[in-house]
Amino acid sequence: MNASQEKAWETLADRFIVDVPARELSTSVHPDAHVDWAAEFGREAPLFVEIGSGRGEALVALAALHPEANVVAFEVFQPAVASTLSRINRHGVTNVRVVLANGVEGLEHLFAPGSVVELWTFFPDPWHKPRHHKRRLVSPEFAALVAARLTPDGTWRLATDWQDYAEAMREVLDPAPGLVNAHGGWAPRFAERPLTKYEQRGLDAGREVRDLTYRRADAPSPDQPDADADVPTVPDLLHRTPRPGASGEVPL
Ligand SMILES: C[S@@+](CC[C@H](N)C(=O)[O-])C[C@H]1O[C@@H](n2cnc3c(N)ncnc32)[C@H](O)[C@@H]1O
Repeated sequence: MNASQEKAWETLADRFIVDVPARELSTSVHPDAHVDWAAEFGREAPLFVEIGSGRGEALVALAALHPEANVVAFEVFQPAVASTLSRINRHGVTNVRVVLANGVEGLEHLFAPGSVVELWTFFPDPWHKPRHHKRRLVSPEFAALVAARLTPDGTWRLATDWQDYAEAMREVLDPAPGLVNAHGGWAPRFAERPLTKYEQRGLDAGREVRDLTYRRADAPSPDQPDADADVPTVPDLLHRTPRPGASGEVPL
């Protein structure tokens, strides 16, 4: 981390970072981990989650637009989290908490079934090489986990500037059980989503940005007490735990 990130971490982490128990890898989330989100935020409120929040550009803008929500962000790259802390502080938003950990594991272990109103995954790492596609965030297993964690009227918003990943997302998510494509195709740009530096770089390079929006297809009936039953455990996803700097992406 650079000096200003170190300073942000020292002064702001206590207030906005939620520490969670890990397994062997520091950015993992222990399966027995538990967070009382109402206690962390000091209030009960609808839970919004972002996975891969980077420097927090979208996170902070969206949290400011949604003071009614408790917004939880997961990011594995500590310098980006430190920059996020500075941004939170600059903008004076109080309804954000950040977890320095893998958001896939966080979503599985730290949120009850049917408890997440909004999930945002904006510009997930594209992992271009075919042999790395298995590391991509969007997969059938992750889709099943998201479907189980969303509230019955919950929404998952995605965006990417890589057409092949956008198409791969559609191939996985359009037929995914428990999810429905809210627009039957590409979504209009999510109007609340700010233009981030990352997105601008894609646009400058001539890439088109695709937005996607999925909703929970159906509410679990009371006859299905365990809405989590069909969700694969994450071990299969764990090998995808991102190693900072390993994606070959432009550093934040
Ligand atoms: C391409 S960047 C986009 C950042 C941000 N969403 C934006 O639009 O500016 C992807 C980010 O996701 C983070 N990331 C990748 N996989 C993650 C995971 N499983 N959990 C949390 N963060 C993740 C990376 O460290 C990186 O900061």
